Amino acid sequence: MKENEVVEAIRERRSVYSFTDEDVSDEELETILEAGRWAPSYANLQPWKFIVIEDEEIKEEMYEIARSVTIFRGGIKNAPKLIAVAVNSAEDPRHFIEAGAVATQNMALAAQSLGAASYWVGVFDLNEERGSAEQRARKALDLPDDYRLIALMPIGKSEQKVTKERKDLEEIVVHDRFE
Ligand SMILES: Cc1cc2nc3c(=O)[nH]c(=O)nc-3n(C[C@H](O)[C@H](O)[C@H](O)COP(=O)(O)O)c2cc1C
Repeated sequence: MKENEVVEAIRERRSVYSFTDEDVSDEELETILEAGRWAPSYANLQPWKFIVIEDEEIKEEMYEIARSVTIFRGGIKNAPKLIAVAVNSAEDPRHFIEAGAVATQNMALAAQSLGAASYWVGVFDLNEERGSAEQRARKALDLPDDYRLIALMPIGKSEQKVTKERKDLEEIVVHDRFE
């Protein structure tokens, strides 16, 4: 297997849930957003908006709203930056979910490569249930009706050490047809 910086960032990225007081610099933030900007999307529609949340009151609101989707919500308040990944489902009705997901992961990997950390808060609600965390967060962030919220991603510096395992390649790779 070959190694390089990209593969290393992919493998070493872990979700962390607590952050130090150290801020993410403007330059680092720009690099992270740039990684989101260069994500692939269906027909290159780029249907996303990345909402950078630094306002403490809005973070607090997101923290409260996330209660119903995750027990690890402390990082929403604790991280210096919180990025909400919104996508226009009318502009890209076929693939808006993948668009938001791939942009989110690009930003998580860029953060990792810069020595920052993040985690993905899964607010997206496929069934768009009334009163869901996603609906409440969309309202709180003043998203237009066509915009869905794919992820909330706290980003900051962290000293948390997390280990995770993955299934072996032999378990997940098949050749030519599903076996
Ligand atoms: C779509 C999606 C939704 C997720 N939602 C949450 C969440 O709501 N709360 C949480 O603590 N972690 C969430 N995670 C993080 C996963 O739990 C984590 O990625 C997984 O356990 C693997 O760990 P790792 O990221 O450290 O490799 C989410 C990840 C994805 C991709």
